[in-house]
Amino acid sequence: MRSPDVFIAKYKPIVEKALAEAVSYRGPYDGRVWEAMEYSLLAGGKRLRPLLLLLSAFAVRGGYEKEILDQALPFACALEMIHTYSLIHDDLPAMDNDDLRRGKPTNHVLYGSGIATLAGDGLLNLAFETMLDAVMGDPAPGRIKAADAIAHAAGPHGMIAGQTADLLAEQKDEITEEHIRFIDRNKTGQLLSVPLTAGCDLAGGSPETRETLEKAGFLFGRAFQIQDDILDVTGSEEELGKTIGQDAANGKATFFSIYGLEESRRQVRELSGQAAELVGTIPGGPAELLKEWILRLINRNR
Ligand code: IPE
Ligand code: IPE
Ligand code: MG
Ligand code: MG
Ligand code: MG
Repeated sequence: MRSPDVFIAKYKPIVEKALAEAVSYRGPYDGRVWEAMEYSLLAGGKRLRPLLLLLSAFAVRGGYEKEILDQALPFACALEMIHTYSLIHDDLPAMDNDDLRRGKPTNHVLYGSGIATLAGDGLLNLAFETMLDAVMGDPAPGRIKAADAIAHAAGPHGMIAGQTADLLAEQKDEITEEHIRFIDRNKTGQLLSVPLTAGCDLAGGSPETRETLEKAGFLFGRAFQIQDDILDVTGSEEELGKTIGQDAANGKATFFSIYGLEESRRQVRELSGQAAELVGTIPGGPAELLKEWILRLINRNR
């Protein structure tokens, strides 16, 4: 495959089709929660986490095998469901109080906080149903490991820990770099590192390869969050699909709010460079593509 764009063009529609099928159900009295789940899950988004999981599995296998795609797709979808649930809850008035997401009104703006909370809960549970159904169908050790890794990354040792620290750091005058690192590593790094490790588990990679990918994922995750903080100030609402200036309005403690634009940009380059270098130690075309994609995301504007 020639470039990350070609990879995205081929695999994004496959992920989106599977996601659409997963939320197509409508029950007699519960249809509204499914509608709200579908609304946010299919609202767009870069689909970075599911695509990274697929590419990691291909990288570890050293080729774009159909069999590994079929193996990995339920786990890729589960990750996107968890990510989307985290965004629905992140946008709630009780958290970041955002009214624009993926270029559309946020879930609670359209459905109210009650249904939005349930839609988030619904997507989280559906993710676990999806992974467990896959594991029940074929309880291979790699699948069990991948589901376990995703559970830990999403849970109170992972993303939820980061979101908690993020919320509690609001309006604080004194915040250490260590504290910001904890926030970024957990709220964002966990769900960006686990696509790489779970992909490795599904493809049967060695412990060494897994460790390399895990490290790369956390470095990339921190870079990604710092870039997100930068874009909250310098980005365009049109391109980003989110309200600009919301972090300052909420008194959020971010790497950017402490160190400013220049140092933040430097960090994004440095951390992404380190991540890419680690991925570069894995041989083969798909790993090369992953490396190129990580470097390209340094300059993302959405
Ligand atoms: C936004 O994630 C939340 C962060 C962790 C910074 P993305 O930038 O991946 O959002 P979507 O999925 O493309 O909407
Ligand atoms: C959110 O970080 C990370 C999540 C776990 C959802 P942000 O609060 O900065 O994400 P955006 O800017 O709202 O997408
Ligand atoms: Mg937030
Ligand atoms: Mg937010
Ligand atoms: Mg943000």
